[in-house]
Amino acid sequence: MKRPVLVKLGGSVITFKDRPLAANIEAIDRISSVLAGVSPLVVVHGGGSFGHYWSVKYDMHTKPAAYDPHGVSVVHESMVALNQVIVNSMIKAGSNPYALAPPVFTSGHRPLPSKIKEIGAMAQAGMTPVTYGDVVHMGGKKYSILSGDALMSMLARALRPSKVIFATNVDGIYRDMKAKELVSEMRPDGKVEFSDVLADVTGGMQRKVREAFKIASLGMDVMMVNGLVPERIAEAAGGKTPVGTLVRGRR
Ligand code: IPE
Repeated sequence: MKRPVLVKLGGSVITFKDRPLAANIEAIDRISSVLAGVSPLVVVHGGGSFGHYWSVKYDMHTKPAAYDPHGVSVVHESMVALNQVIVNSMIKAGSNPYALAPPVFTSGHRPLPSKIKEIGAMAQAGMTPVTYGDVVHMGGKKYSILSGDALMSMLARALRPSKVIFATNVDGIYRDMKAKELVSEMRPDGKVEFSDVLADVTGGMQRKVREAFKIASLGMDVMMVNGLVPERIAEAAGGKTPVGTLVRGRR
């Protein structure tokens, strides 16, 4: 059995973060062409100017709370809409994507192991499961944002992918933001300085690095690459080390 490749398409790559509800169709299409050559594959995508835009408007966060129910509908629907754009682009590129909202395989923030196993089986059989950060039910009137980065850890833990790739709009982790000096390789216990770049509702880059470290601590290599240069995703998926930051899995 070939272990799948697990890819997160960050909201900064697939949308224009400074423009509400604007999908970066060109970037999505270019990534889709590259992903069509990767199998088995599981894809997670973020919210960018869709989910994050409305989460901010309705003051919704990862912390479970009784948020405005109308906001819950609007945030969820915006993610379904973005997901549609991605899935349709992948179909056009020749992949066989299958969209799965997180509550199909989670309960609140907890994974449903038998359902995640099915996701693995689908990937093995030639489908590409595609899921996304979303707003999820936490019980009673409570809801919470479940980020795509948190889904990455959850899926990595259960599926043990051969490659874990985070695609963002930057080349990787920088040692120094000003000099833009890229860290090509680090260990999950390495130190990173955040010169606090704008954090969004789910914690921005900091959250990604934290999840990447978590996954690397489980023994899997994690590659952080620039998704606006999609060939780097292809190279990382193919076992090469493209420009980016490799977080070495703890052996
Ligand atoms: C965001 O998911 C989900 C919502 C806000 C509904 P992510 O937190 O993974 O999105 P990006 O990649 O940072 O945009």
